[in-house]
Amino acid sequence: MAPVESAGPVALKGIVLAGGLGSRLRPLTKVTNKHLLPVYDRPMIYYPLETLRRAGVREIMLVTGGNSAGDFLRLLGNGAELGLDQIYYAYQEGERGIADALRLCEHFAGDHRIVVILGDNILQDDLSPVVAKFEAQPSGARILLKEVADPRRFGVPVFDGERLVAIEEKPAHPKSTYAVTGVYMFDRRVFDFVSGLQPSQRGELEIADVHNRYIRDGDLYYDVLTGPWSDAGTFESLFRAGELVARQRAREP
Ligand code: G1P
Repeated sequence: MAPVESAGPVALKGIVLAGGLGSRLRPLTKVTNKHLLPVYDRPMIYYPLETLRRAGVREIMLVTGGNSAGDFLRLLGNGAELGLDQIYYAYQEGERGIADALRLCEHFAGDHRIVVILGDNILQDDLSPVVAKFEAQPSGARILLKEVADPRRFGVPVFDGERLVAIEEKPAHPKSTYAVTGVYMFDRRVFDFVSGLQPSQRGELEIADVHNRYIRDGDLYYDVLTGPWSDAGTFESLFRAGELVARQRAREP
């Protein structure tokens, strides 16, 4: 039988990762989940959901864990208020990493490709053009990079000219000035790659290892974000994320 894909493009599904203990933000995260903390005038989790919605991704799995998982349901419900078609929820036990959280989404993804965003990533670019490029790829993965002042805090790409040859997770001596942001697009192979991973020294399944697996197949593509970007997992970056939104609000009519 012909593959179902011949019927036309299958809509992308979205995944927002909002687990973890937020230990770098204690005591703010002692009784609540990091992604429920305020970033200027909204709870942090609104921003990644809005980023996906703007890019046309309206069916979303939210993976949470740790403290206050039930509060996400109270806050977001079925997603209608945020303009989403449906939000599904999954619970990740412990702190086993971004790639481990993805494992919980295999059934949800089904035959669809996925767009993943980390729940603490605040950005203003409209991702529609990047998502369209990903949909036009015959296969593979696509990541977004951003030039940063201190790449040591992030996954850092290694280039040979324009070609991406590796991702190094939080390297002591970064080989470029770019960070791998928390927006990742994957075809279905991601679930096979994740199940083949071994935990890193910090005991987590690292998303950088998944990217490196795609690089090995010559199937990892990238774009560079043009607008501002911040994660919000430390006091400094949480503060910066708030400032970024405040500046945006001031520009709004
Ligand atoms: C994670 C990823 C890292 C990426 C960052 C972006 O780091 O492991 O590769 O650059 O998100 O927000 P974490 O925030 O978990 O330290």
